[in-house]
Formats: sequence, structure tokens, C-alpha cells
Amino acid sequence: MRTLRNVIIILVAVFIAIQFVPAEQSNPPVTGEIEMADSVHAVIKRSCYDCHSNETEWPWYASVAPPSWLVTADVLEGREHLNFSEWQSYDVRKQAAMKEEIWEEVDKGKMPLDIYVGMHSEAELSETDKQIISQWSHTPLVVPPSDTADTSRLLDPQEHERENDDSR
Ligand code: HEC
Repeated sequence: MRTLRNVIIILVAVFIAIQFVPAEQSNPPVTGEIEMADSVHAVIKRSCYDCHSNETEWPWYASVAPPSWLVTADVLEGREHLNFSEWQSYDVRKQAAMKEEIWEEVDKGKMPLDIYVGMHSEAELSETDKQIISQWSHTPLVVPPSDTADTSRLLDPQEHERENDDSR
């Protein structure tokens, strides 16, 4: 019995101690949010924004270690890969490539992360949601005049795909 009691005391002490390991859970300012039709934006916000924007709604379990570490790591890594709040800082090529990548991840069912959907069932994408994302991601980007001499040029995500294939 003494051993069990000591083990429990140690576990409780460790649990308390790890609460002091800092987890960086900030929401940096939104500097250049993506612009898209409201219908698409609603889906992306509901399903992706917690990890891919600066408008994360940190859940209560993000305040308790060790889950807090996992949540924080996913958000920081997610933002690093793709941040809808800083989308305007990506050049057009990156935006086009990312649109393609977004559909790829959604189509394969890799995003949103399963572990997240487990805690946020509302983030699950219906077939209609996926169609909405697909349609958006397959719409060519208009290259702004400042980015190219040829102002009328469209950057077609599929064209980009073909370019990638050629280089292989
Ligand atoms: C729980 C957090 C979380 C959610 C929610 C989430 N992602 Fe991610 N996402 C990540 C993380 C972490 C990575 C980087 C590691 C990886 O690829 O698994 C990532 C990577 C990606 C990438 C790859 C970017 C690159 O640089 O290649 C794309 C695209 C992406 N996510 C799209 C989405 C979309 C679209 C949604 C919503 C439908 C979404 N994600 C929802 C955490 C998340």
C-alpha cells in the first residue's frame, strides 16, 4: 500500500510539474487573409482554421499538459505549412501550388487530421464540402499585374501540375 501511495504521489507531482512547461499558444495578427467566396470560406474556416490560421480557438484541453503539447505542436506546424491568415504574403506560384495541395490532402482524406475530427466532429467534411473545396482549388488564379508583364495571363493549377510532371 505504501508503494502504491508513493507512486500516486509521484504521478500527481509529475502531472503538476509538467503544467509549468510553457506551450506557446498565441494568435498572431491576421496580416493577409485569403479571399474566397463565403461558401468556400465557411467550410475552410470550420474545418481548417484552428490549425491553419492565426484565429485558432484553443480548446480547454489545450491548457492541460500533455495534450496541450500535441495541440500546440499541430497548430504551430500547421501554420508553418499553410496559413490562411497570411495567404497574401505567398507569391502567386505558391498560392497556386498550395491550392492544388489543399485539394490533394482533402481528396486523400488526410486533412483535417483524424485526431482533430475526433474532438471536433463539426470539422468533418461532407461530400458537398469536398465538392466546394475541389471546385475552388481547380479555379485558376488571376495573376495580378504587378506579378507579371502579361496582365491577362491566368495561372492554371493544372498547368502547374503538368510543369511538375515534366521536371520529373
Ligand atoms: C489539427 C490541426 C489541423 C487541421 C484541423 C488541419 N490541418 Fe492541415 N496540417 C496540419 C499539420 C500539423 C500539417 C503539417 C504536417 C502534415 O502534413 O501532416 C498540415 C499540413 C497541411 C497541408 C500540407 C501543406 C504543405 O506545405 O505541403 C495542407 C495542404 C493542409 N494541411 C490542408 C488542410 C486543410 C485544407 C484543412 C481543412 C480541411 C486542414 N489542413 C486541417 C494540421 C491540421
